[in-house]
Amino acid sequence: MISIALDGPAGAGKSSIAKGVAKELGFIYVDTGALYRTVGLYFINRGIGTELECDIEKNLNNISVDIKFVEGVQHVFLNGEDVSDKIRTPEASMMASAVSAKPAVRAFLLGMQRKLAEDNNVLMDGRDIGTVVLPEATLKFFVTASAEQRANRRYKELIEKGEKVNYEDVYNDIVTRDYNDSHREIAPLKPAKDSIMFDTSNINLEESVEKLSAIIKERISVD
Ligand code: DC
Repeated sequence: MISIALDGPAGAGKSSIAKGVAKELGFIYVDTGALYRTVGLYFINRGIGTELECDIEKNLNNISVDIKFVEGVQHVFLNGEDVSDKIRTPEASMMASAVSAKPAVRAFLLGMQRKLAEDNNVLMDGRDIGTVVLPEATLKFFVTASAEQRANRRYKELIEKGEKVNYEDVYNDIVTRDYNDSHREIAPLKPAKDSIMFDTSNINLEESVEKLSAIIKERISVD
């Protein structure tokens, strides 16, 4: 099986690019951030705050996270409920960042991610795919863009969805999450030694998909 790791900070365009490239290559696109968001949602539903003052492992025993692909589109389930939309709020973003710093949560989600790559040709996006989840991935990319660009894009996305947000909050969220994600002790966000840097600050989505697909096709033979 072919696996392509796509890591990078929040809002660099990873998921939109990955969706386009996966379609182009006929691979499945796995958004691993959605898994952390799903675990985070469980804690939100239980009224637990981002400081996570509770027995994490005990809570994980009550959580089942499933991932299914409906016409190529990923859906995530929390204890049987499709929560694919509910995990897309700023609150769920912050909670995902908080739970993702917990070793028990990362261990809980690791097997599921590896199994998906074992059974399918995947394009997997996250923070530690090239470094931890799939260290033997066929190709690894580290997708970046400036914090301002990323905040701009995320802000537009949320406004289009009808969320009531202001730019300052979105920008601060991005900077806080960058800091948390790259300074945590376990699986911090950093490029794998053998990853290819891909900066999207000055190219749009269409160009990014085209460029990344071309690099992949050049390096591996995709039928
Ligand atoms: O990609 P995203 O914004 O949906 O991710 C939500 C949070 O989950 C983000 O703060 C970092 C964390 N995450 C992670 O630690 N490891 C991954 N493989 C994917 C996401």
